[in-house]
Amino acid sequence: MIVVTAPTGLIGQQVLNNLLNSDEPIRVIVRDPSRLPAHIRERVEIVQGSHGDLDVVTRAFAGAHSVFWLVPPDPRAESVEAAYVGFSRPAAEAIVRHGVERVVSISALGRGVQVNAGYVSASLAMDDLIASTGVNFRALTMPTFMDNILRQVGSIKSQGVFFDPTSADLKLPTCATRDIAAAAARLLLDHSWSGQGHVAVLGPEDLSFNDMAHIMSEVLERPIRFQQISSEAFKAMLLEHGMSDAMTQGMLDMMMAKNEGIDKAEPRTPESTTPTSFRQWCEEVLKPAVLA
Ligand SMILES: NC(=O)c1ccc[n+]([C@@H]2O[C@H](COP(=O)([O-])OP(=O)(O)OC[C@H]3O[C@@H](n4cnc5c(N)ncnc54)[C@H](OP(=O)(O)O)[C@@H]3O)[C@@H](O)[C@H]2O)c1
Repeated sequence: MIVVTAPTGLIGQQVLNNLLNSDEPIRVIVRDPSRLPAHIRERVEIVQGSHGDLDVVTRAFAGAHSVFWLVPPDPRAESVEAAYVGFSRPAAEAIVRHGVERVVSISALGRGVQVNAGYVSASLAMDDLIASTGVNFRALTMPTFMDNILRQVGSIKSQGVFFDPTSADLKLPTCATRDIAAAAARLLLDHSWSGQGHVAVLGPEDLSFNDMAHIMSEVLERPIRFQQISSEAFKAMLLEHGMSDAMTQGMLDMMMAKNEGIDKAEPRTPESTTPTSFRQWCEEVLKPAVLA
């Protein structure tokens, strides 16, 4: 039995679709089952509720050998630790109680880098919590997702511009969520690995936001430019959207750490280099979203 958390989310739904190509029994934890397509509801076992709830994970992990673990964004959390580590504590308890064999988590690049990197540091602390249960464990460690650009489809469409506090010419790895889901599904379907560690998902190449703007312009056949914004302007924008002070600061700390190269600490290898290029992602995901 493989348990999938966050099956309606961007990564979770792609993990689930990959797993559905196998014969493995699958159980999902979902707050609102009606958000799953009917053909999926018929194929999987459903435990209704939040995977941050002890009672829910205790039911969901009974008889499970593998768990896909993803902490949902919580923009109003009182601290980044509460959002990641606090949310995962009930799962850690249920992993031990039911003797779950393997866990694959969604995490971030930055292991071994000694800076306060906000969300990233909290994600790594979450991994430490899961690892402390003794379960066989792989954290998928990611740079910024290409898919984050979808949040700016509005301004790309109307003004031909997208924004971020990261330096315009800083080349960093970036990956597509489809590559993350493929890596997660591979690990969940493989019953041979053991021990604890991380698997980086780095996409095929390092790109700057200016490089991305150039590729977007070619694919969308119109000029798109990147605009670096100050951390003050970025902070004001997040607070205006209702994010708590602590989560806003956590986001800024993460952005600062990225600007200082935290995502470059992981060496690129053939294994961590994943296939979907930014150009392919723009053609297959961004362009349809902009034209919609
Ligand atoms: N974006 C990046 O660049 C980046 C980089 C590295 C790591 N990450 C990590 O990636 C994760 C986000 O993944 P994603 O983009 O796939 O997320 P997403 O698309 O926002 O999906 C969130 C999922 O969580 C569920 N959810 C929301 N609130 C919940 C709650 N209180 N209890 C239970 N379920 C809840 C949602 O389901 P319903 O609303 O249907 O219930 C949905 O399935 C985060 O852990 C983040 O730290 C992100």
